[in-house]
Amino acid sequence: MNRYILVCTALILASCGKNQADPNKESNIMLEEPLVVAVDSAAAGKHKGLALIEGADCLTCHKIETRVVGPSYQEVADKYTEADMDMLATKIIDGGKGNWGEIPMTPHAGMSRENAIKMVEYILTLKK
Ligand code: HEC
Repeated sequence: MNRYILVCTALILASCGKNQADPNKESNIMLEEPLVVAVDSAAAGKHKGLALIEGADCLTCHKIETRVVGPSYQEVADKYTEADMDMLATKIIDGGKGNWGEIPMTPHAGMSRENAIKMVEYILTLKK
């Protein structure tokens, strides 16, 4: 019995430690509830870039397949290639306008380039 309790306690401690070290959580990311995205369940939550996108404010303005305030991620994927990853990551961090119209994308100044690249990697997986 005692041993059972010990094992349980160890498991609980282990899972706590994991949560605290979650690299997906960045201090600058808005911690609102992720919106429901119309992607198939195989893609949902699997790609780290998608998890980051769901954890940030991106889905307020971008949907996967339909244009809202910003272009759909499908359109972005179709327009660019891997050669554009750096430029797109910079755009996520610095914001800007002009490639799709006059509505500017808001900057995400505190976001790490590493995470911005992961988001771009995910978006480019949507290329058809
Ligand atoms: C306030 C609305 C808004 C939010 C929030 C937002 N975007 Fe955008 N995004 C836009 C608009 C508008 C554009 C089109 C900009 C342009 O015309 O160059 C855009 C463009 C983009 C592009 C294409 C850039 C280009 O130059 O073609 C990518 C990639 C992108 N957004 C990713 C993201 C990611 C990832 C997030 C979350 C971290 C995010 N966006 C959050 C509005 C937004």
